[in-house]
Amino acid sequence: MESWEIVGGARLVGEVRLTGAKNSVLKLMAAALLAPGRTVLTEVPDILDVDIMGQLLTRLGAQVVHDRPAGAVAIDVPDQLDHRADYDLVRRMRASISVLGPLLARCGEADIALPGGDNIGSRGLDMHIAGLERMGAQVSVQHGYLQAVARQLRGSTIWLDFPSVGATESLLMAAVTAEGRTVIDNAAREPEIVDIANMMVQMGAQISGIGTSTLTVEGVDVLQPVHHVTVSDRIVAGTWAVAAAITQGEITVINAFAEHLEIALDKLATAGAHVDVHADSFTVSMDTRPKSVDIVTLPYPGFPTDLQPQFIALNAISLGASLVTENLFEARFRFVHELARLGADVQTEGHHALVRGQPGLSGAPVEATDIRAGAGLVLAGLVADGVTTIHEVHHIDRGYAGMVEDLQRLGATIERIRHSD
Ligand code: EPU
Repeated sequence: MESWEIVGGARLVGEVRLTGAKNSVLKLMAAALLAPGRTVLTEVPDILDVDIMGQLLTRLGAQVVHDRPAGAVAIDVPDQLDHRADYDLVRRMRASISVLGPLLARCGEADIALPGGDNIGSRGLDMHIAGLERMGAQVSVQHGYLQAVARQLRGSTIWLDFPSVGATESLLMAAVTAEGRTVIDNAAREPEIVDIANMMVQMGAQISGIGTSTLTVEGVDVLQPVHHVTVSDRIVAGTWAVAAAITQGEITVINAFAEHLEIALDKLATAGAHVDVHADSFTVSMDTRPKSVDIVTLPYPGFPTDLQPQFIALNAISLGASLVTENLFEARFRFVHELARLGADVQTEGHHALVRGQPGLSGAPVEATDIRAGAGLVLAGLVADGVTTIHEVHHIDRGYAGMVEDLQRLGATIERIRHSD
């Protein structure tokens, strides 16, 4: 058990270097199952979810070695895989559902424990299921498991109701070795989808339209294992950008691609920050109290839901009021009750939040309810007067490798406090 204690007030100045994106690497690990042999992923973040995905792949028959200092994971995939993902692992990490497509493609069947909802929403799987059924799979739910069977997946045209990240990935991974052509329309376009599609192309898949909302896949018989560099984490990048703005500091984020964060960086510029973009880094600095900015979360290239709590924290101390609209996860405003403990004035109504900026916040004990809510609370704690203690930080550790140490290097007063109970 650990909590983080922050004494607010420091101006953060310096450089941080990003590693690969959590929401990419977990899917890349799942995609490795598509090709027998050794796949090696680099720029792998040192986070718990990588270990959980490693345990899941091991349970399915692969051998996984995570070289932490090198930031690399080697996955040896056998010719025969097991096809069952048990509840004990799936309940620890929703991204376990990413093995559905590869297992169906490799084994002709997959039994995956249903992950259920979580603190940010109900998180349905209907689009994954409808798409796989369209490709010839028979899918049922029995005893808490999603059971899918398809001796041979067939290419098909699938129109997603919504550009779901997870459904696009599941269908793409199922389609690459299906018989014939699959078209996924209204597909998600996130950089993490581009990353997984690019890796599968390296493996021998035939995918066109990568980065657009229509993906066309011509099925191939076999794929080869590859070495692949994970795309850098745009959400961690955006979190550091907000950290610079909220503390009126100056942070250079290295190994970051500003083009993956265009709207978020533009919002920071509107709030009064200076944003300097370089080839593979950017610098955000701020020398006045920020101005409030309205936010509407949408699928990429819209404003990312995974940066919504961080921007609510920024708006909480900005000049004026802002309206934040959350369109992806219905429960993502839950954390504002914690932010209110620091003195933030946030009123929610359905998927809208009205944030009235306060001249300051005051430190208090708070609880992280999910990764991004936790990041939002850390940012608020950095500017709150006095001590903010953040509990349940294991959520934050799932998405931000070494965040405390990075914050210390940038000049924050923050400590990890270990508890025995
Ligand atoms: N949805 C359905 N049915 C489906 C699929 C999705 O109703 O079949 C709904 C979900 O319930 C949700 C919305 O559609 O309300 C968006 O879901 P999507 O499938 O796009 O998201 P995801 O794959 O579950 C990933 C990331 C999230 C990130 C979202 C949106 C991973 C492991 N997770 O989730 O990341 O917020 O895309 O960009 O890749 C995080 O990192 O903190 C996080 C929550």
